[in-house]
Amino acid sequence: MKIIGTSLLLPVPTGVLCIAAQPVASEDLQKPKGGLIRGAQKLKFSLIVPTYKEAANVEAIVQQLTRLLNPVLDNDYEIILVDDDSPDRTWEIAQSLMATYPMLQVMRRQQERGLSTAVIRGWQAARGEILGVIDGDLQHPPEVLYQLLKAIEEGADLAVASRHVDGGGVSDWSPTRRFLSRGAQVLGLLMLPNVVGRVSDPMSGYFLVRRSVIAERPMSPIGYKILLEVLGRGTIGEVAEVGYVFQERQEGESKVTWRQYLDYVGHLVRLQTSQGRIGRLRQRFPIERFVRFGLVGLSGVFVDMAMLYLLSDPTMLGWNLTRSKILAAEVAILNNFLWNDRWTFGDLSSYQHGWQKRLKRFLKFNVICLSGLVLNVLILNVLFNVFGINRYIANLMAIAAVTFWNFWLNLKLSWRVTDAK
Ligand code: GDD
Ligand code: MN
Repeated sequence: MKIIGTSLLLPVPTGVLCIAAQPVASEDLQKPKGGLIRGAQKLKFSLIVPTYKEAANVEAIVQQLTRLLNPVLDNDYEIILVDDDSPDRTWEIAQSLMATYPMLQVMRRQQERGLSTAVIRGWQAARGEILGVIDGDLQHPPEVLYQLLKAIEEGADLAVASRHVDGGGVSDWSPTRRFLSRGAQVLGLLMLPNVVGRVSDPMSGYFLVRRSVIAERPMSPIGYKILLEVLGRGTIGEVAEVGYVFQERQEGESKVTWRQYLDYVGHLVRLQTSQGRIGRLRQRFPIERFVRFGLVGLSGVFVDMAMLYLLSDPTMLGWNLTRSKILAAEVAILNNFLWNDRWTFGDLSSYQHGWQKRLKRFLKFNVICLSGLVLNVLILNVLFNVFGINRYIANLMAIAAVTFWNFWLNLKLSWRVTDAK
């Protein structure tokens, strides 16, 4: 075992990815034994910092975290940096910091790789009652930890730093990155509504979770999204969300490639097919809201028809059909938005007040309803041309399917109804 000063590395847990209900002494973590010998005394908080090629960031993140946590937690916390044998020897730099920052522990993984398994191995070695994760590249503002810790102290089982609630955002991501991140969220909302729909930012890699709600549950994540695994396998009661702005990276670069997006789809499928609780409808489906949404949609049909008559009928303005239909559809969408914002989701809109937020909701509502229109045309054509179903019955089936699409995505993305208090 390589020793630098008195700073031995933490043994790397092996075997099943499963967090114990109580902290484990270090010599019980690894076969054959080796590394730092330390007891299993409990701590309040363990924060995992997963790193890969973060040599330029490691000292800054450790310094900021200790400066922030010392005053509130005294010595009742630990920071565990889990490095996957970075070629820039991030683990070794972290090891040299241990003498200055006694709350820091370092784990160097050489047999396993991957962000989400790094976090779980860190949690397996952790001694905290509260377990957390933060990126090691300073893109997650450390000061948000105060509100996350407060939320857990006040009873939440899970406290997520979210880019999609008030106070949240991303520095200046490219439209492509924003589209891909949102697209991944939509896919998750459709494949695992009861898991992904519980929070507004299921892609977040910055959150705290109570050990007891994820202990003794074998985990098998794929890729980056550790929060997905926690939501899917944990027995999580109350969820809290704190808005944060995802910062611009100063040093190094993101390791996200297309591989992570494919891993994400694989992770969704794995969670969806896994046994146990995920299949059960955890959240009561908001029937009443859905009925209101359907009635508003019906009023939109009348508005659409009336506008189509006024604009395109030869006895009225006599405009061409396509232009009339597009305008009629947009007026109907505006009608539906105003009714939904006031009636269907009125209780929520009052929390998200201000004309900018209302405009943002309207734009999201538009994008979702227009994508629903495309879906409607697609389903209609498949049912009519491929399955030979009568066009009017096919259209009704398409409208029913798209009503669910519009309702569910607007509920989660436009009015952002999640489990979070
Ligand atoms: N141990 C380990 N192993 N750490 C890793 C690995 C790995 O294979 N890959 C990335 N990391 C570390 C990075 O060093 C960094 O500290 C953090 O994980 C995030 O990696 P980035 O490559 O910087 O990801 P990003 O900036 O695109 O962030 C996205 O993913 C993060 C993790 O889920 C965003 O979705 C963030 O919201 C999210 O926190
Ligand atoms: Mn990053």
